[in-house]
Amino acid sequence: MPLPAAQHETTPALDLAWVRSQFPSLAQTVKGHPATFLDGPGGTQVPQRVIDAISDYLKHNNANTGGAYATSRHTDAMIAAARAAMADFLGCDADEVVFGPNMTTLTYAMSRSIGRELSPGDEIVLTHLDHDANISPWQDLEERGAVIRMVDIHEDDCTLDMEDMALKITNRTRVVAAGYASNAVGTINDVKEIVRLAHEHGAMSYIDAVHYAPHGPIDVRALDCDFLACSTYKFFGPHMGVLYGKREHLQRLRPYKVRANTNAIPNCWEWGTLNHELIAGITACVDYLADLGQHVDSSVSNRRQAMLTAFEAIHRHERAFMEKLMSGVLALPGVKLYGISDPKRFDQRCPTIALRIKGHTPLELATRLGERGFFTWDGNYYALNLTQRLDVEKDGGFLRIGLAHYNTAEEVERLLAALDEIVGSGG
Ligand SMILES: Cc1ncc(COP(=O)(O)O)c(C=O)c1O
Repeated sequence: MPLPAAQHETTPALDLAWVRSQFPSLAQTVKGHPATFLDGPGGTQVPQRVIDAISDYLKHNNANTGGAYATSRHTDAMIAAARAAMADFLGCDADEVVFGPNMTTLTYAMSRSIGRELSPGDEIVLTHLDHDANISPWQDLEERGAVIRMVDIHEDDCTLDMEDMALKITNRTRVVAAGYASNAVGTINDVKEIVRLAHEHGAMSYIDAVHYAPHGPIDVRALDCDFLACSTYKFFGPHMGVLYGKREHLQRLRPYKVRANTNAIPNCWEWGTLNHELIAGITACVDYLADLGQHVDSSVSNRRQAMLTAFEAIHRHERAFMEKLMSGVLALPGVKLYGISDPKRFDQRCPTIALRIKGHTPLELATRLGERGFFTWDGNYYALNLTQRLDVEKDGGFLRIGLAHYNTAEEVERLLAALDEIVGSGG
């Protein structure tokens, strides 16, 4: 499902000075160079209010849940508020929001429970574009007799082969697990169509929205997906994972759980004591996005509407910088870009760019950029099937440059100049 096209031309631009003033870490330097955070796909920076919410919780309300005294009651209320915040973020109800330490843990837990229902020969459809956190937990169900079917990609632009997907999903399929967007090459998948294909054959859909979440609005009801997982540390929040599950599935499926824990959803899906201080940070990160939307358009009527406005502005901002970054990168000598490079198709990708440059390993490029204060990444970022499929795993994967809404045009220009110096005539 592509990002909303340019129908929101009228949305006012981001107030970048305000945005950057919210994130104290952006002011850092590395050996005299301004720190340039192009590592958002590995984890974004956090606004001051997230830091404050975490420490305030520890200072004033640090307690376990369910106790008959003030700090415990405050903790219960704080967790309920965070669930409501994530419900606004995802477009669902609060009792459909499950918290966990990260997306991988939540996906392992849910896939174990779904696995309890599978019979030998039942099929699970996965994709070569996905992060391993949406592959291995399902692949491990082979030990229960599940059959894994992998959907291929179009190698030229790293998009999913939807014809292959339509062939791979059959009446034996029980689960279709696919990403919303690739954390390696940035492709945004047609999630609505994937969910439709799954449902047409009576299968459930499990969507990994970890990479997409900082870039575009999520509406689980409009997607009609059965599950959708994301991680708040990728969208300006703390290191936590969040799983949306349709209420009917959360109620019907059997979680692995300790007996003393409640049988009520969503808590029955949460293992042990949660990381309360970080959950306090989740509400703050959602409120940051809503505030950003308010800042863009003060007439927004509620928190979800404010976030939708924020994402329109984020999208416009990131898209403009992606065009600048892409044209600069493609002009570098010996560059090979993986993914969509045609600006006319930029609504089908996030501003996450994977490339290789002849004569330089991705590690060497990331290291030399790092010395100049540019934080990029090298390797496979756990998109292992993809680096193997594209035959780059054996020699270092890709260099990944990931833009977030707090990046500036000047940062993109300096990055391109640094890359040119490293690989061009100055190299
Ligand atoms: C697309 C994608 N899916 C899943 C994950 C795993 O998320 P977590 O670290 O919360 O387990 C990542 C982490 O980089 C990711 O980028």
